[in-house]
Amino acid sequence: MRKDIGNKVVVIGAGFVGTATAFTLVESGMVDDLILIDLNKKKAEGEVMDLNHGISFLSPINIKAGDYSDCANADIIIISAGVGIDSDETRLDLANKNSKIIKGIMKSIVEYTRTAIILVATNPPDILTYIAAKSVGYDETKVIGSGTVLDSSRFKYLLSKHCGINPRSIHAYILGEHGDSEVAAWSITNIAGTRVDHLCEMCQTYKTDCTGLPKDEIFGDVKNAAYEIISRKGETSYGIAFALRRIVEAILKNENAVLTISSQLKGEYGIKDVSLSVPTVVNRNGVGKILELPLDEDELKFLQESSEKLKEVINKVSI
Ligand code: LAC
Repeated sequence: MRKDIGNKVVVIGAGFVGTATAFTLVESGMVDDLILIDLNKKKAEGEVMDLNHGISFLSPINIKAGDYSDCANADIIIISAGVGIDSDETRLDLANKNSKIIKGIMKSIVEYTRTAIILVATNPPDILTYIAAKSVGYDETKVIGSGTVLDSSRFKYLLSKHCGINPRSIHAYILGEHGDSEVAAWSITNIAGTRVDHLCEMCQTYKTDCTGLPKDEIFGDVKNAAYEIISRKGETSYGIAFALRRIVEAILKNENAVLTISSQLKGEYGIKDVSLSVPTVVNRNGVGKILELPLDEDELKFLQESSEKLKEVINKVSI
């Protein structure tokens, strides 16, 4: 938090994700000034009016519908503007359309700040995180994406359901693209400091009906979660909003928390010139440190394949 004013967060995009994120940030008590920006000013104003009417139940916070001039002195700028995936699309199918939007947004932002941490949630976040920084020459350690923070949370949830253990006691990592080429890093996923395979052996001594972890099923459910939700409610919003709130918390509280945010790799895991998700220390500066952890051979191969897939798309999109 800067000395002059409190924690200032700007959310660009008052769609399902942006408004759910604004809601959870207002409720969190972490933010002192929240500004919502949308091309549809009336929409932004309506959302802000609705949020303000609940303030008497919460910690004090200034909430307003604003414009890009409000990016000045912002600590964090969350970008959720763009088109969402239809049921017959993948996230990468949105790269062309949303990269044009993100470049326009970044051009407007840099008129007012180059010190804010930029947090990209718009799909495909890995492609857009890379383009957001490159398109205006922004410090890439300050441009991060929601990446697979949500996927890792889905992974923890499903493991917690199977094992009967609180998801907060599970360290589970989905790496690579926030999308179809993502990788389940089973080798660094552990419960109570024990690799899940070893826990299974132990667990089956008392849960004799358990036939072990259905790994493929669990990973499949993680990877397809968004499609399943979209086919039912038309979009996803709450899970990604909670993921963004967690990332904002790690930044504002300078936590040095390890999260699988998307950021530009510089050779880690043999990968560079692309943004994707690996375990990263997140603090007040955005990317504190990218952790190069010992993955299994196949996991490293899949992670590098995921990076190649993303690079193919980046090469087709004009920066
Ligand atoms: C999801 C969207 C945010 O995975 O891509 O829910």
